[in-house]
Amino acid sequence: MSQKRVLTGITTTGTPHLGNYLGAIKPAVKASQDPSLSSYFFLADFHALIKCHDPERVARSTREIAATWLALGLDTDNATFYRQSDIPEIPELTWILTCLCSKGLMNRSHAYKASVDANRDAANPDLDDGVTLGLFSYPVLMAADILMFNAKHIPVGKDQIQHIEMARDIAGRFNHTYADVFVMPEPMIDDPVIIPGLDGRKMSKSYDNTIPLFCPENELLSLIKQIKTDSRLPGEPKDADSSTLFELYSLFASDQETTDFRAKFEQGIGWGDAKLELFESLNGYLCEPRKRYNELMNDLNSVEVLLNKGAEKAREYSVPFMREIREATGIRPLNTTLVGASKSEPKKKEKSAEQLANAEAGRRRGILMQLKPVLDQVANAVDKTAAAAQVIAEKQAEVEGLKKKAKQKAQNELELLREEFAKYQV
Ligand code: TRP
Repeated sequence: MSQKRVLTGITTTGTPHLGNYLGAIKPAVKASQDPSLSSYFFLADFHALIKCHDPERVARSTREIAATWLALGLDTDNATFYRQSDIPEIPELTWILTCLCSKGLMNRSHAYKASVDANRDAANPDLDDGVTLGLFSYPVLMAADILMFNAKHIPVGKDQIQHIEMARDIAGRFNHTYADVFVMPEPMIDDPVIIPGLDGRKMSKSYDNTIPLFCPENELLSLIKQIKTDSRLPGEPKDADSSTLFELYSLFASDQETTDFRAKFEQGIGWGDAKLELFESLNGYLCEPRKRYNELMNDLNSVEVLLNKGAEKAREYSVPFMREIREATGIRPLNTTLVGASKSEPKKKEKSAEQLANAEAGRRRGILMQLKPVLDQVANAVDKTAAAAQVIAEKQAEVEGLKKKAKQKAQNELELLREEFAKYQV
């Protein structure tokens, strides 16, 4: 059986913290060790340039994230671990997809809209103030990251679902316009456990309430001492369930340890002592990987070697696949004369029913996306039936006037329009 292909990227702008560990790193390390999965994990350093123009910070974060993932046991033999900027096919594909992606799709991107909203709220007459083309079209780069490896399962946070949807739209459009080469990706969303930060809100860099995963012991202790507690005195029973301290403890401890800690809360453990216990427990958990992390940070050559090997492995896929993609778009060596020669080669294995259904769904999406203006026009018309009938008549006339390939394309569109407009009783 072929392996499930899983892919995810980590933007290299920050220092990994406990929240990142539980939310993304721990499940990814586990997946990397699973022989039934083919995992692609990459340092998304081109994505970092979108929001961060501090070169030292990008470089530092890239080192820290790479060393963190390796220290925690990422299996680089089974998984493919690489740096995005080591794969030149990714920006190449980004351009090809940029030329297919409608601007309107990007206008709807949450990241872009958030910037526009912020300008509007600040009464800034220039709604695009501070918006680079990188930020605007960042979903296309993300689509290229995913489609370059034809990955189907994309573990991401909820905030990224829209980007996966956009990658599907763009892939469908490519498949429809050129050749059926891309698999439709799907988001893989784990039940989100919200990891509380020092102030009790979600642990996040933007709230400045994080506990870095591998900070030195004394810093770990002093951060734990800053965790917010209530004013109950030693001896007074405390509510474990509303305590950030208790929650953090339970995320790393065994069930038995957690039950024992809860009992201590009921018996009125002092906050100072509870903090010391959390420190002991966390520190015990992090001690070994922290040691490995420090070793790797002092031996960055070996990390660099591993990343280079990862890039080589990744390019075993991306280089030939890019050739196929270029070929489909008409970017070919001059002596490639046979039109459609690549299509007639029996290079693809037989597809499963699910793959076929997915390909069909992708094909429909691609066609519908191109038809969106007319679909909207009909949906907004007063007499929808008449408007739909007119669109169909026009398309029918178009089909009749066309030849062969163009005719087939228009015919496909006509069929989908008929299906879409059935609801208007045309
Ligand atoms: N944009 C993602 C984030 O901010 C990171 C990312 C970049 C990514 N490329 C990707 C995630 C491809 C999944 C697949 O979290």
